Amino acid sequence: MKKSLIFILSIIFSIVLCSHVNAEVAGNCVNCHTMHNSQGGADMATYGGTSPTNSCLTRGTCVGCHAYDTTGASIRSIGGSQVPQVWHNGTDLAAGNFRYIASNANDRKGHNVAAIDQEGTAAMFPPPGYETDPGITASNFSCAGVYGCHGDRTVTDETTSVKGAHHADDSTINGSSTGTSYRFLKGVLGLENPTTAWQNASATDHNEYKGINGPGASPAGPTSPANNTMSGLCAECHGYYHGTAATETGGTASPWKRHPTDHTLPSNGEYTNYTTYSVVAPVARVTVPGTPSGTVTPTGTTDDIIMCLSCHGAHATNFYKLMRWDYANSSLTTALEGCVVCHTSKN
Ligand code: HEC
Ligand code: HEC
Ligand code: HEC
Ligand code: HEC
Ligand code: HEC
Repeated sequence: MKKSLIFILSIIFSIVLCSHVNAEVAGNCVNCHTMHNSQGGADMATYGGTSPTNSCLTRGTCVGCHAYDTTGASIRSIGGSQVPQVWHNGTDLAAGNFRYIASNANDRKGHNVAAIDQEGTAAMFPPPGYETDPGITASNFSCAGVYGCHGDRTVTDETTSVKGAHHADDSTINGSSTGTSYRFLKGVLGLENPTTAWQNASATDHNEYKGINGPGASPAGPTSPANNTMSGLCAECHGYYHGTAATETGGTASPWKRHPTDHTLPSNGEYTNYTTYSVVAPVARVTVPGTPSGTVTPTGTTDDIIMCLSCHGAHATNFYKLMRWDYANSSLTTALEGCVVCHTSKN
């Protein structure tokens, strides 16, 4: 009797443990799904406001679950499942916070995805720096799919493009499917912060991003990010800011014509002083470490790669042009905050 109780308890314990180690969803189906979108005659797809029926029978759209309560915290529990919020009133998560473009009416601070941009007046379409026009407009710019960033970017429908990802075992990030890619960005590699989920909290407690020394050519259109890097994903829409052609960064070495990305910090000069990882101006890694590393070694080869996210946020930030710090500030110290993390002799 006692033995079987211990046996049952150990099974329960290992189930609970597994659901914590992996970010795959767990819990009662009803927490997230509705079979008919009706219970006692009332709608059930009400997350983030009442919506009609959704693909995969979910009780909300992407924004319904991920901007569940825009006045609430940055991570929200739905029936015990932790749901990272993208538009909220708490501390910004690693990708930023869509609140800055939603309620401040300040479209220059981020990506104006249609489901969040309240005014629909953003006019920068097609995206600046595009190499192949991705066909994105103010009304179709989405979280996922052909007109968005997450999921399979060859699939038009948002939910279909991430289908299966939320239930996938993502303990190994290998980029082979949406579920096993960094943050469901299909093809992108990285380390999802195992300590403080979805946050870049400190030099030793943060996500890790894949980079490479030498970006190579950008793929034409939405296929798979070049070399599985974060900057390669950005380049699917902003191709001229990444790559080696004369039209892009202007070559492979100094003097540059656009700021390089997917390029190593040189092992000489001012760059050698960037040795402690900075969450203001982070670097990507050629080999993504198994645990977040607090060290940067500007050896010119490996764990010291400048990327788009060294200077920009991903969703939206509180700063002009989605910068990670206030580059447009009239105080020089504030404006240079991130630049001098690498350009240590320019402060
Ligand atoms: C915490 C939220 C959550 C819970 C709980 C949940 N699901 Fe899902 N499920 C989703 C989301 C979101 C999608 C759609 C996006 C995707 O597939 O990634 C989905 C998609 C699916 C799909 C279609 C894609 C696939 O993986 O085949 C099936 C089937 C499914 N869920 C079944 C279930 C069942 C059965 C349960 C209960 C045992 C359940 N879900 C519990 C969130 C949840
Ligand atoms: C029914 C609620 C629900 C819906 C709808 C939903 N999500 Fe999620 N999402 C969750 C939950 C719960 C998690 C946390 C568990 C996990 O990581 O799978 C999550 C996690 C994520 C993550 C983080 C994955 C990681 O690696 O940490 C991304 C990215 C994401 N969702 C994107 C989307 C997109 C894009 C859509 C729309 C196509 C969507 N979600 C629709 C509930 C939902
Ligand atoms: C699916 C296409 C797509 C991808 C991928 C993409 N962007 Fe964008 N980006 C756009 C579009 C469209 C705009 C212009 C509309 C807007 O500003 O919302 C834009 C605008 C911007 C802006 C200017 C914001 C402003 O309002 O002035 C920055 C900065 C930016 N993107 C950075 C990035 C970074 C960094 C990445 C990678 C993490 C990235 N983008 C990935 C489509 C994309
Ligand atoms: C994460 C590190 C990092 C950050 C942050 C950074 N840079 Fe750079 N920057 C580099 C690297 C690496 C190079 C290329 C060095 C080389 O190969 O000679 C570079 C090159 C440059 C160049 C061209 C130099 C040349 O030789 O052609 C300028 C100008 C520049 N950066 C300005 C800035 C400004 C302004 C900021 C802030 C908005 C900034 N950088 C932020 C790493 C960084
Ligand atoms: C060294 C810092 C730095 C890096 C790295 C960087 N950016 Fe920028 N980005 C800026 C600044 C600063 C601006 C504001 C305009 C300017 O100074 O040219 C900007 C502006 C933009 C814009 C808006 C252009 C417009 O017309 O308004 C887009 C889009 C953009 N960046 C995308 C990217 C992408 C994609 C990458 C990676 C391939 C990237 N950036 C890498 C600093 C950076």
